Amino acid sequence: MQTLPDGAPATLGEAFAIINAATHPTLDVLQLMVLAEAAGKTLYEGMADQVALPAVQALLRHNGREELAHAHRVSRAIGKLTGSDYPVPAPEDNPYLAAPASSRPVTADMLAALAQTEFNGDALYENWARNCPNPDVAALLRQNGREETEHGQRLQQAAELMRAG
Ligand SMILES: [Fe+2]
Ligand SMILES: [Fe+2]
Repeated sequence: MQTLPDGAPATLGEAFAIINAATHPTLDVLQLMVLAEAAGKTLYEGMADQVALPAVQALLRHNGREELAHAHRVSRAIGKLTGSDYPVPAPEDNPYLAAPASSRPVTADMLAALAQTEFNGDALYENWARNCPNPDVAALLRQNGREETEHGQRLQQAAELMRAG
């Protein structure tokens, strides 16, 4: 199991609360973001396993793969700030996946609500990029942000497919 950063909260829910309240991409919050984004892949995989429609599964898995890519991009951002990338844990080593994730049923409404969370993720990354003096780091954060909007659009598409299916 990868060790949590000093002072980090114990659960993924608490980590998201800190991340969402952060206005600046401090090292502490970027480390939490690596762990949260890496956990995002597993959470999307778990959702995909719950749904029957292959097209919806594909959309969810696509988002999941990109969440892991986001973790690696934030890790590289940390590397640009400190000289060493922050390790991206495998699912079994991620302290934020130690507790079983709550298995909320995947419904059209749930996917539509999650889309909004993804759009908020773009706004969060954009704000961090604006408040980041390092242009290379800001570019990495903005790239993640743009993809969060695509995640939201995929989730809206998935919600429509669930409603139609
Ligand atoms: Fe992400
Ligand atoms: Fe996302």
